[in-house]
Amino acid sequence: METPVFDFVRRYAQSGTVRLHMPGHKGRGPLGCEALDITEIKGADSLYEADGILAQSEQNAAALFGSGRSFYSAGGSSQCVKAMLFLAMQMTGRGTVFAARNVHRSFVHAAALLDLDVHWLWPEDGYQLLHCPVSPQSLCRALEQTDVLPAAVYLTSPDYLGHLQPIRQLAQVCHQFGVLLLVDNAHGAYLHFLEKPCHPLDLGADLCCDSAHKTLPVLTGGAYLHLASSVSAPDDMVRQALAIFGSTSPSYLILQSLDLCNQYLDTSFRRELAQTVERIAALRSTLSARGWVLPETEPMKLVLHSSASGIPGTALADLLRKNGIECEFADPDYLVLMPTPQNSEADFIRLAAALPEPAAPKGTQVVPALFSVAPPVQAMRIREALFSSAEELPIAQAVGRVCAAPAVSCPPAVPIAVSGEVIGEDLAEVFSYYGIDTLPVVREKS
Ligand SMILES: Cc1ncc(COP(=O)(O)O)c(C=O)c1O
Repeated sequence: METPVFDFVRRYAQSGTVRLHMPGHKGRGPLGCEALDITEIKGADSLYEADGILAQSEQNAAALFGSGRSFYSAGGSSQCVKAMLFLAMQMTGRGTVFAARNVHRSFVHAAALLDLDVHWLWPEDGYQLLHCPVSPQSLCRALEQTDVLPAAVYLTSPDYLGHLQPIRQLAQVCHQFGVLLLVDNAHGAYLHFLEKPCHPLDLGADLCCDSAHKTLPVLTGGAYLHLASSVSAPDDMVRQALAIFGSTSPSYLILQSLDLCNQYLDTSFRRELAQTVERIAALRSTLSARGWVLPETEPMKLVLHSSASGIPGTALADLLRKNGIECEFADPDYLVLMPTPQNSEADFIRLAAALPEPAAPKGTQVVPALFSVAPPVQAMRIREALFSSAEELPIAQAVGRVCAAPAVSCPPAVPIAVSGEVIGEDLAEVFSYYGIDTLPVVREKS
């Protein structure tokens, strides 16, 4: 697999050319990576009008992922989520999206920028912030009952806790109704490379975004927007959609990193991934034998339902931190760890040694944080509320007021209330549970 972007930049860095172009560091500086940080000079192609080395590299990625087409983003999945929704609106001429509620905040930003109508798909068995299972039956019912079909159904899979939606069945339902399926696969770029590929595109999704940087060895910000072969939007339209939400100066460090990753995906990744999946499964068995409660997840996440084992996730994260281990995410219930093949055997050994014995006896009943939250009243459009004048209030005083910006902790950046929704007592309880004390609400006119 060729690496045209990396090769071009390396040749340029070695050429001794006098840089009278941007960036201002001129290839020299204290970070050590400046020489490889270039801009759209002759021969370097241009991401949003790509027809040279960047287009070649994207074609390599598409071949590796088995997608119809793949496009690079240096602005993470946050950029791709917006582009994907914009494309769905453009392609269908419709302005509504049905979305499982556990969206990342980039979805809310997209809904505001695009003035989308969002119909939320709520979980059927009690509200959990990070998990929103959608069954084919409930999706079918929702699509049958609507007067106007949406531009797309939008799912987050895997979610932050590693749960996967039944994409194959949900895609069948979408296609039965002639509706596009969009998947926020930010956490699942690796899924295509498992022994049994289960990337959303393998299972019938039409468009999806992957944060390459979350599970592959790619610099932060590197992501893909993938289109299934059945999606006929012209390249120009896709590039334009990405350009609207990205900088005109995408980082060539990130682009080289995506380019180099193709070579890794083409050579040793599948083997190393299989070994890591086995290693994680072995650690999971050891921890479960020690009494830890581990929910079923996608294979590359190690999630401890810590509170069910008698220790809040946040306390467990502190304990790991004292042992020189930093987790991906912790809340009162869960601790989320995201190993990859780039972790060494020594890392796994340190982790197993640093985890204490669970505080609760083995077999303790598992009680996840389930709230009885009624779907909030939407008092304003998302766009109107997000762009309104706002004031920050303590949660207790925000009850009865309209949420302006989705108050979230990042990670996981999943909104409890969405812009435009009236904050009820039930939502206030969820905010308090997750330790969020204040919320921006729409300023009332005096
Ligand atoms: C589910 C989900 N979607 C989208 C994003 C945004 O991804 P990025 O950080 O690549 O912009 C994140 C980031 O954490 C995420 O967790």
